[in-house]
Amino acid sequence: MGLTRRHFMTILGAMGLSSCAGRTVTRLTPHIPFVGDGPISFAAINDTHVLDAKSVGIVNRAVASINADQDIRFTVVLGDVATGGRWPELKLARDSFDRLDNPCFVIPGNHDVAPSSPDIYANYARAFGDPNWREDRESWVFIGLDTCNGTASDVTVPPERMDWLRKQLRHIGEKRPIALFTHHPFNPNTKAYRVANADDVVGLFSEYNLRLVASGHYHGNQVEERDGITYVTTACCSTTRDNFDGTPEKGYRVFRLEDDAVAHEFIPLET
Ligand SMILES: [Fe+2]
Ligand SMILES: [Fe+2]
Repeated sequence: MGLTRRHFMTILGAMGLSSCAGRTVTRLTPHIPFVGDGPISFAAINDTHVLDAKSVGIVNRAVASINADQDIRFTVVLGDVATGGRWPELKLARDSFDRLDNPCFVIPGNHDVAPSSPDIYANYARAFGDPNWREDRESWVFIGLDTCNGTASDVTVPPERMDWLRKQLRHIGEKRPIALFTHHPFNPNTKAYRVANADDVVGLFSEYNLRLVASGHYHGNQVEERDGITYVTTACCSTTRDNFDGTPEKGYRVFRLEDDAVAHEFIPLET
């Protein structure tokens, strides 16, 4: 009997293996028993930094690769879609994401706002809509949180977005698994750019089952676990920017959720 990719991932995870042909594979044991409706797979792309038509090439390759994976139900884009928050950049990126077969949800990065515009989010909103969003998909809740403070690299989530988060959590059952998506990193030991009040934001989830915080901005693969929460940053999916940690790999990440366990795999792309 042949193995599907999902079976392969699950077996790897069960064996505790951590790498395969240059790809990083991690599976963590859930700390709270939870039985969901079945596995959910999704892709996460960050830091495409689209500048011109040429720079969309790697984004199109990511889109084709995601479409070729029949398990993937949706894609999240973790900010820095563009370079200077200009409409032509955002439009080029959106046209590429529009080729995805399944839904795509985007949060802004510090390169997606236009600092000289009266409304710095105007171009972003025209391309991708609300910068904060929540999607309930089967047993999981997925929350996109805008962490931008204008174009700053080091940020604090402002009070009004903390209030928005509190409002989202009000009607979520305490065992229902939650994934949080942010542009700026929450990893407790990220080498740079940790959100200044990351602990306060995570504290809002203390009575809930937050299982994953996936972020961009750092341009490098970093994975760690604290208190049952998986924190991830991923290499950029860009040919106009390098990774901040000096690693050459560019690509995106595929997450596979089963009950409230989080498995994930970095998918490298040709540059
Ligand atoms: Fe970036
Ligand atoms: Fe960024």
